[in-house]
Amino acid sequence: MNETLLFSPLRIRDVELKNRIVVPPMLQYVAERGFPTPWHITNAGKFAAGGAGLVIVESTKVEHRGCGTVGDLGIWDDKFIAPLRDIASFIKSNGAAAGIQLGHTGRKGKARRPWEGDGTLSAQELAAVDDVDGWDLIGPSALAFGNGYFTPRALERHEIPDAIDAWGKAAARADQAGFDVVELHAAHGYLIHSFLSPEANQRTDDYGGSEANRMRFAIEVAESVRANWPAPKPLFVRLSIEDEAGWGPAENARLVRILKTKGVDVIDCSTGGLNSKVPNFFRLNEYGYQVQFADYIRREADIMTMAVGLIIHGDQAEEILQDKKADLVAVGREFIHNPNWAMDAAQKLGVDPTFSTVPPQMGYWLEKRARRGFGGNPSTWQKGIASDS
Ligand SMILES: Cc1cc2nc3c(=O)[nH]c(=O)nc-3n(C[C@H](O)[C@H](O)[C@H](O)COP(=O)(O)O)c2cc1C
Repeated sequence: MNETLLFSPLRIRDVELKNRIVVPPMLQYVAERGFPTPWHITNAGKFAAGGAGLVIVESTKVEHRGCGTVGDLGIWDDKFIAPLRDIASFIKSNGAAAGIQLGHTGRKGKARRPWEGDGTLSAQELAAVDDVDGWDLIGPSALAFGNGYFTPRALERHEIPDAIDAWGKAAARADQAGFDVVELHAAHGYLIHSFLSPEANQRTDDYGGSEANRMRFAIEVAESVRANWPAPKPLFVRLSIEDEAGWGPAENARLVRILKTKGVDVIDCSTGGLNSKVPNFFRLNEYGYQVQFADYIRREADIMTMAVGLIIHGDQAEEILQDKKADLVAVGREFIHNPNWAMDAAQKLGVDPTFSTVPPQMGYWLEKRARRGFGGNPSTWQKGIASDS
């Protein structure tokens, strides 16, 4: 299994990932008053059973008021520890490390679920949300995300320490729930990113204005989390390396050099989301469109990075690692398409004849079928019975 980088283990602090394949956080919008449902276990579990080295549970809200929309998962109270533990242990029992993304929607809250249309929930839709009274849009400044979006309340200076503390408390709960990896969501225009951006943050106190002041919230969140997250466990941060709104690669590299000194181990390199304009680079809807940013941050800040965004094929993922553009590859929507993506990639790369990537209750039968041969390839390899392309 070690002939490829993709399937070689990676040790980060005291956690050993069995391979470099990560399922990134993906919101499911089906939690009930912040509590997970059987879907969350099924969803994370199938990716783990499909051979990923690390499965990161979706953006889970560190404060009740930080909920973005209907069905957000919560970690703002101890009552969530036990149900989240069920998810973490099921992921681990299927051979993957268990990660969780900590998030806070900030000014982008009260949004529709994506398949229900763009923009915010109507008054009627909001009235139907049973815990909406706990939601409260906050941001660094009272500036809306875009036309038609709600205007957040600017956090008062005296409220900021508690807002930071919420992240540390959430990390402690993630530890108690048995997660191996925590990722901070500091991308996509949500609360932490909005503090970084001069477009969203127009404060005049020590959390706004200069670049150092705008970085302060993110850095203090990382400090609070590190103080509450055991030293043997890795800490990831997801950043929008280019947001086309004043917070770009050079700014991020400067931030990451500081985050590294605070105990951050991996930067998950995403893009965009600060405002409702469609960034130019998203129009580059092509294979690996964000890999360049993982490469840049890795070189500029000398830190491990994770590449994400239209990484579709195993050989593509392997090339990213061989070219030293990233240390981990995250495969999101393609894992939705094929929850056994890692197993499939191992077969295509020819590194796992015994199907050891997946639990034996799966691998045993597939190895036996492959050994006997049936004159073709699995359904993920060819278009139909008459085609081998
Ligand atoms: C259904 C769905 C939900 C997502 N939820 C999150 C999330 O909770 N946190 C986050 O940082 N990104 C989220 N993303 C972005 C993904 O983590 C990933 O960065 C993006 O889909 C690009 O990777 P891909 O091309 O492999 O899917 C979500 C994406 C999808 C498709």
